[in-house]
Amino acid sequence: MQEKVVITGAGGQLASELLRYADRAFCCVPLERAQLDIGDARALSDRLQQHAPRLVINAAAYTAVDAAETDADAARRANELGPANLARACRQQGIRLMHVSTDFVFDGLASRPYAASAPTAPLGEYGRSKLAGEIAVREALPDALIVRTGWVYSMFGNNFVKTMLRLMAQRDELAVVADQVGTPTWAAGLARALWAAAARPQLGGIYHWSDAGVCSWYDFAVAIYEEGCAAGLLQRPVRIRPIGSDEYPTAARRPAYSVLDKTGTWRDLELEPVHWRQQLRAMLAQYRDGSHADV
Ligand SMILES: NC(=O)c1ccc[n+]([C@@H]2O[C@H](COP(=O)([O-])OP(=O)(O)OC[C@H]3O[C@@H](n4cnc5c(N)ncnc54)[C@H](OP(=O)(O)O)[C@@H]3O)[C@@H](O)[C@H]2O)c1
Repeated sequence: MQEKVVITGAGGQLASELLRYADRAFCCVPLERAQLDIGDARALSDRLQQHAPRLVINAAAYTAVDAAETDADAARRANELGPANLARACRQQGIRLMHVSTDFVFDGLASRPYAASAPTAPLGEYGRSKLAGEIAVREALPDALIVRTGWVYSMFGNNFVKTMLRLMAQRDELAVVADQVGTPTWAAGLARALWAAAARPQLGGIYHWSDAGVCSWYDFAVAIYEEGCAAGLLQRPVRIRPIGSDEYPTAARRPAYSVLDKTGTWRDLELEPVHWRQQLRAMLAQYRDGSHADV
């Protein structure tokens, strides 16, 4: 018998990959923001009662990192109040909760990968709202599973890979920040990891997930160009120039070092690390072969 799983934020890139890679053991109920606003506690509780799932995967979030600096209330509503509402409703109705968070809970001053237990110190409103959401979830539902991730991309929605492909098809030269490092995460790989976690109901607490390896945004852009050419998605020469963060000012400060330690996750989920460049190649091949040619 299949287990019913409610997926919130179903219009987003992670939720889209969760639906593509759903394990047969699970029956998914995807709910877009118009069907379920997690900031509305009453509607949320009613919806969960209506569907009576065994598990909720919260893929809903306010993810506009720079806009959050001037729109903190909206970020808090989706990233703190929403998860708090979810955790309370799940506790009351005996539902397991898996919640997704971010590497932006850290300040990026480390020089080795962040363990799940490392001290948090977000630099901006987005990170602060996501950290507040983690805390609210843990307070209301200590058994909940929280998975932090970073640098997420997929063929769905807006993300760095799709932006780079579009700009590389239009411009002769691009300048990309080279002094912020982290690890890209193909949302499809994250979705597989979340399904592996869903199949292990005994798991709770904080886990980290990204692909394997480390790179700067500049390295990532160069790889997107090289792999994009190899996949036949790009044809023209583009000069990619490394710059410092000071040459590309943004409303929100970003961590300089954003690498997450995934060793515990790979062990507990029995998953092999896959290097980010291999995942990028796989995503671009799907993007080329699928019906998502809106580069
Ligand atoms: N993208 C990244 O690089 C990144 C990095 C680190 C962590 N994460 C985390 O990964 C998770 C998935 O992110 P993603 O990249 O899939 O984000 P996404 O593509 O922006 O999707 C988020 C979805 O949540 C919806 N949403 C926003 N507020 C909501 C609310 N109050 N109630 C219900 N739904 C709401 C959004 O709807 P609208 O489009 O209508 O607003 C959107 O469909 C999030 O927890 C995010 O914080 C992402």
